[in-house]
Amino acid sequence: MLIRRICYIGYLAVLDVFILLVHKEVMKTQPAKKLFNIDINLDVPVFTKKTEHVPDIDPNYSFDHDTTLAILAGFMHNLKVLVQGLHGSGKSTHIEQIAARLNWPCIRINLDGYISRSDLIGKETIVLLRGKQVTEFKDGILPWAIKQRMALVFDEYDAGRPDVMFILQRILENNGKFTLVDTNSVITPHPDFRIFATANTVGLGDSKGIYSGTQIINQGQMDRWNIVAKLDYLPLEKEVSIVLKKLPLYNYKEGKKLVTNMVELANLTRNGFALEDISCLMSPRTVINWAENNQIFADVEKSFRLSFLNKCDDSEKRVIAEYYQRVFNCELNESLKDQNETTSISNGAKSYI
Ligand SMILES: Nc1ncnc2c1ncn2[C@@H]1O[C@H](COP(=O)(O)OP(=O)(O)O)[C@@H](O)[C@H]1O
Ligand SMILES: [Mg+2]
Repeated sequence: MLIRRICYIGYLAVLDVFILLVHKEVMKTQPAKKLFNIDINLDVPVFTKKTEHVPDIDPNYSFDHDTTLAILAGFMHNLKVLVQGLHGSGKSTHIEQIAARLNWPCIRINLDGYISRSDLIGKETIVLLRGKQVTEFKDGILPWAIKQRMALVFDEYDAGRPDVMFILQRILENNGKFTLVDTNSVITPHPDFRIFATANTVGLGDSKGIYSGTQIINQGQMDRWNIVAKLDYLPLEKEVSIVLKKLPLYNYKEGKKLVTNMVELANLTRNGFALEDISCLMSPRTVINWAENNQIFADVEKSFRLSFLNKCDDSEKRVIAEYYQRVFNCELNESLKDQNETTSISNGAKSYI
C-alpha cells in the first residue's frame, strides 16, 4: 500500500516537471543591433516560441533608433509607452514589428468612437447550461488580455471616449490591478502583460485641426504614461527604400527615380503643412498607396489624384498642383485654372516638421 502510494506521488512529481518543461517559455537574449538593424549595444530577451497573436515579421521594416529604444524599454522594464506622431509615420507598426521580433503576442485596439465600455470590460450574456438559460459574465478584451503575456496597444488613444478613457485609467495605475466590479473580482496582471498607446496629438488637443475626433486627454491620465516617444517622418532616402522594399517592381533606375519624386512631393506637402500653406499632407502610407495605384493604373497623375489630391480641399489644390509641377515638371489642370491669381506658396520651405 505504502509503496503504491510512493509510486503514485513519484508519478505525479514527474508529470509536474514534464508539464513545467513543456509550458515553460524559454527566453534567450539576442543583440538588438541584429534584430532591429539599429546602432545600439543592447541585448534583448526574445521568447523562443511564436505563439498565437504574435504578429508576423515584416522583414523589410525600417526601425527608428529612438522610438525602438523607447518601445524596448516598455517591453523589458514593464513601462507604459505612448508613441505620438503624425499619421502614417509608423507608430502602430513599430510596436507591432518589435513584438513580432520578440515573439510577444500583441493586439491592437482602435479607440475610435465605436469601442464601448462593454467591449473592454465584458457583459452578461445568456448561455445554455444543462438545457436551462442562465446569464453568465463574458470577459471583454481587458480582463482577457491582462491575464496573459500580451502587449495591448491602444491605437488612436487621443480619440477614446471619456467613459472608455476612465476604464483605461484603472489599468494605468501603478500596480495595474484591474477591479472588475461586475464580477466582484480583482485581476492581477500577468508579469508579461504590457500596455502601449499611439496618438496623433499629445493629448493637448489638435492645434492644426487635422485630427477631428481627438480629445484633450485628462492630465492625470497622461501622467500615468512612463514614456512618451515622438515619431516623425523618416528622412527621404529611408522612406524611398521602404517604398522600394514594399513594391519591388519599382526597383530599376526609372522606378527608383519615380519613387524618389513621389517622396519629394510628399515632403513638399509636409513643408507646406508645417508652414500652414495647406491643411493636408501626404503620409508615408499615402505615398505607398500612390505607388500601388500607379502599378494598377499605369498613370502617375491619375493615381496621384486618386490617392491624394481628391482628398484635399478645393481651395488648396492649386498649391498642391504647384508642388507637383516643381517635382514632375508637369502642369496639372488645377494649377492652370487659376493662373492669374497670385500664388501664396511659401518658397522657403526647406525643412519639414
Ligand atoms: N519604418 C517603417 N518601415 C516600413 N514600413 C513603414 C514604416 N513606417 C511606416 N510604414 C508603413 O506605413 C504604413 C503606415 O504605418 P502605421 O504604423 O500604420 O502608421 P501610424 O500608426 O503612425 O498611423 C504601414 O503600411 C507601414 O507598413
Ligand atoms: Mg496607427
